[in-house]
Amino acid sequence: MSLSGWAFGNLAFERDSAAPCRIVLGENQGVAMATRPYEIDEMISAKSIAARIEDLCRDIQTEFEGTDKLVVVGLLRGSFVFIADLVRELDLPIEVDFLEASSYGDGMESSREVRILKDLRGTIEGRDVLVVEDIVDTGHTLNHVTNLLLSRLPARLKSIALLDKPSRREVDFKADWTGFEIPDEFVVGYGIDFAQRNRNLPYIGKVRFTE
Ligand code: IMP
Ligand code: MG
Repeated sequence: MSLSGWAFGNLAFERDSAAPCRIVLGENQGVAMATRPYEIDEMISAKSIAARIEDLCRDIQTEFEGTDKLVVVGLLRGSFVFIADLVRELDLPIEVDFLEASSYGDGMESSREVRILKDLRGTIEGRDVLVVEDIVDTGHTLNHVTNLLLSRLPARLKSIALLDKPSRREVDFKADWTGFEIPDEFVVGYGIDFAQRNRNLPYIGKVRFTE
């Protein structure tokens, strides 16, 4: 399946669009190329994602069996579809909370600074916690967030990422569960965006510039 699109906007400064920034700024100077047309090639089907989530949830349930309450923390915005499917597959007493982190540098450097834009509403001290992320790329975001949440003394803290790009890692971090390992491609869909677009695709697709 292939889908056409255009990339608009302030790509150079959107952390959620880190990889396109690299492409845009690397091959051309500045945001003018943000209007480059692209197509989306399906990489992971909706059916494969659903099947993988069933497997993952079996493991998560075993890990947290007997919990009085599992706080499932979604990292906004990319994990919103994944967390919705995950919690509906989990036969455990759960609570859902959200946290928004944003990392930024100058858009081209690999050093990352992670900021918390929106913190949890609830406390997690003494609770079981599962952090849900869309993609582990350099690893800075989830590394920072799990360290922050650990400092709040949860009973148990585990992390899950739908996608992992191990070849892009800059810090030594691995989620406790990973849906799929993927190569160094920029992907969209199933909650994941390119300059805020394409989050509503039911599958994971890779961005291919056509010009
Ligand atoms: P990390 O701190 O480099 O691991 O950043 C992870 C974040 O970068 C993810 O939550 C995404 O928001 C973003 N990201 C990394 N790779 C992609 C991609 O291929 N498509 C869209 N966003 C991505
Ligand atoms: Mg993200």
